[in-house]
Amino acid sequence: MLYPQEILEEVRVQNDIVDVISEYLPLKQKGTSYFGLCPFHNEKTPSFSVNSERQFYYCFGCGAAGNVYTFIMQMENDTFPEAVKRLADRANIILPEPQYTQQAKEQEQQKQRLFLLHKQAGRFFYDKLQESVGEEARNYLQKRQMHLNIQKKFGIGYAPKGKNELYQYLQKQGFSQEELQKSGLFVEKKEANEYFDRFRHRLMFPILDIQGRVIGFGGRILSSGEPKYLNSPETILFNKSKNLYGLNFAKNTRKREIILVEGYMDMISLYQAGFKNVAACLGTAFNQEHAKTLKKYADSVILLYDSDNAGTMAAQRAIPILVQHGFQVKVLQVPDGKDPDEFIKQHGAETFSRLLVNAVHYIMFQIQCLKKEYDLTQTQQKVEFTIKAANILAKLDNDIERTVYTAEVSRMTDISPQVIESEISKIIIKEDMAFMQDAQQQKKMQYSKNKNEITKAAGILSAQKDILYLCASNLQVYQKIKTILSAEDFSEPIYQKVYQKIEELYQKNGTIFPAELVNYFELPEEQKKVTEIFAVVLQYHSLKAMEKALTEEVRTVKRASLNQHLAQLPLQEQSEQTDEQIKKWVAEKRNVDNLYITIADG
Ligand code: UTP
Ligand code: MN
Repeated sequence: MLYPQEILEEVRVQNDIVDVISEYLPLKQKGTSYFGLCPFHNEKTPSFSVNSERQFYYCFGCGAAGNVYTFIMQMENDTFPEAVKRLADRANIILPEPQYTQQAKEQEQQKQRLFLLHKQAGRFFYDKLQESVGEEARNYLQKRQMHLNIQKKFGIGYAPKGKNELYQYLQKQGFSQEELQKSGLFVEKKEANEYFDRFRHRLMFPILDIQGRVIGFGGRILSSGEPKYLNSPETILFNKSKNLYGLNFAKNTRKREIILVEGYMDMISLYQAGFKNVAACLGTAFNQEHAKTLKKYADSVILLYDSDNAGTMAAQRAIPILVQHGFQVKVLQVPDGKDPDEFIKQHGAETFSRLLVNAVHYIMFQIQCLKKEYDLTQTQQKVEFTIKAANILAKLDNDIERTVYTAEVSRMTDISPQVIESEISKIIIKEDMAFMQDAQQQKKMQYSKNKNEITKAAGILSAQKDILYLCASNLQVYQKIKTILSAEDFSEPIYQKVYQKIEELYQKNGTIFPAELVNYFELPEEQKKVTEIFAVVLQYHSLKAMEKALTEEVRTVKRASLNQHLAQLPLQEQSEQTDEQIKKWVAEKRNVDNLYITIADG
């Protein structure tokens, strides 16, 4: 944990969850709870509740749950420390210097060394480009019309031909064998116990992280040959799924719109032509992690992929990911099979900017792609196309957009908009029904009382949750339960940890505030599980009723725990000691049925 628990609690208390969430979405009060449309799933009626007393949120629709930290982490895509910082700033609380564990400190030092190594490698390549060995590469850059100031800005360099020039250079700079190995810039030749430079006789593109630090390289071959581009492997600095080439520059435009291209040269070309809000994803397809990274800097994306088959497919795959993350998405395809770099070089920036304003809504792009598969002069094909198009249109939430694009499809097919509209309605109703049936099916599974394994396991889990809930709400309950259950009796590691924290917090404060308990968990998944324990208020009409329920639940949990112990015993290696243990567990199991929990009144 980076900050002392007291600070975390102070920051949490100073950020009332209702106030914070209201800054993101409108909430309506109903008693001590507030309701709104859940920001974490698509819905039309509010099932997202915020409890001001407990300082929790819980969505009855999708199960999202947590305290104010969880909310910020999910909403802003922050890590736990980032969420703490954001909320501390909001409440004008100055955070102390973060405290790192020894392990974290070492890893941080290691990273700093690798940053330095990459910086010096970048410098080495850059210098080589200017030297006489760099002539061929300089000519190549000239042929591709990359201006000197741009070469400098992007730190373009040249990796010389020798088998380990960079290796020797960095060794002289004092980097250890281990550091060089971890950089990913070298390839080990096992037999000879020798290291070779990964990049030789290539044009070098440093890959920078969002803060402008070199974290890897891409190297382009100077003539024709394979592979055309060679990239650094993943290292502790370089995560291909998180970094986008050029985003460190693009973010400075503060445009909230990013043009996404496929390669290094496209990115640089656009930048050089004055379209500076451009980034490329390198060596891997656009994925969820990219989307999360991008979300911090943009709300809308123009996909500018090659117009060949591969580029079209890549764009098709990127669309649902972007839409799911709430981006406005447009697609632009450069005419006559050129890539954006070639187009700009041939037609100039002016022509390109006219192209750019004509980027189409992704729905239109999908419909255009679909249209290529059909011959609309044939009646049967026209019908099939229209039905497929209606399926695409049905995904649009916005009525205005849907009307506009329905009109487009109507124009393509000469089928009236009303007819297409009614087809769309049918599809939407069908999808809604399927969704409802699914939900009902799930509910049935949950409530069916038959003794199959699923419900039994669910029963044990919910018993554990109820026990933890009651322990945290009532010291007397906890003191009683403590004599019967130990942390190991809980099946989930997270519940074990909660049970231990309950002990700690009673020791420390004498009372427990559930939202505080959540602070001890850093991952949103964990925070959600902890919140779920407290999300639903347990009420009993009398003390007796509570005791009765509690007794049942403790029996369930204890029994499951003992069964688990017995099941895990290795059958073969029975010794006297295990015999003893088994007897003890069996006896305990018998006792479980005689167990009654009573809580003194008051
Ligand atoms: P392209 O083959 O479209 O190359 O690959 P390009 O960007 O037009 O490159 P130039 O203009 O010929 O120099 C697109 C991107 O795919 C990755 C690179 O990131 C490249 O920029 N790629 C391509 C590789 O990683 N390895 C390869 O061998 C080829
Ligand atoms: Mn190209």
